[in-house]
Amino acid sequence: MNQLDQIDKNKLPKHLAVIMDGNGRWAKQKGFFRTVGHEKGANAVKELVEGCGELGIPYVTLYAFSTENWNRPKLEVKTLMNLLVSSLKKEIKTLHDNHIRLNAIGNITALPKKAFAELHEVMEKTKGYDKMVLTLALSYGSREEITNAIKDICHKVKNNIISIKNIDETVINEHLYTQNLPEVDLLIRTSGEQRISNFLLWQIAYAELYFTPVLWPDFNKDNLFEAILNYQHRERRFGKTSEQLN
Ligand code: FPP
Repeated sequence: MNQLDQIDKNKLPKHLAVIMDGNGRWAKQKGFFRTVGHEKGANAVKELVEGCGELGIPYVTLYAFSTENWNRPKLEVKTLMNLLVSSLKKEIKTLHDNHIRLNAIGNITALPKKAFAELHEVMEKTKGYDKMVLTLALSYGSREEITNAIKDICHKVKNNIISIKNIDETVINEHLYTQNLPEVDLLIRTSGEQRISNFLLWQIAYAELYFTPVLWPDFNKDNLFEAILNYQHRERRFGKTSEQLN
């Protein structure tokens, strides 16, 4: 039986998040510029989205560009932004054909005008779709997101819109970029690094973490299916005992 057949379609993660790491190392190993690694990384994004579509995973969130990534060499930042624009232009048909809604989290107003405009256009054109919500984290930092949420809530308290006694987890959720997304069930990070790197810190509270040595440009559907199978063999207890679950 192949890996796809072994996957239980009733036990899929509802929300898969991915830290796509290792583009630079992939390129270096092959003697290419880092930018080639990012281009190959964009192909891997397509393969991942196709794989998630085949399985029927309804929410997929990708760490495409962090707030810290602005500190990379100017040329690399420019390449990543151009790649975003060209990938959006190229893949809009795939989004239409598969009824995928594009979403973005992060300080997207910090993106170059062209990238912001393209992103906005594709989000508008796909906003009616409901088979999958594909979220790109762009200029995203979890601490910044939480800081902004705290500021918003404080502002509302000051203006008597919310009272302190009513601040709970739901209220906090509603002030995050991810307000319309469910909690993350599975977080995959490629390239052998075992860090979270300021990604969805609040949202991964009960997520299963899966680290693989595969570099992002090499990550294919088989690697995805392997991660899903691994996830399905774990017992998610959410603080309870095994006996309580049974
Ligand atoms: C990490 O590899 C990857 C990134 C910082 C960017 C992710 C971008 C893509 C996968 C391509 C384009 C994506 C979209 C959505 C069009 P790294 O450069 O940190 O690799 P390294 O750790 O080996 O140097």
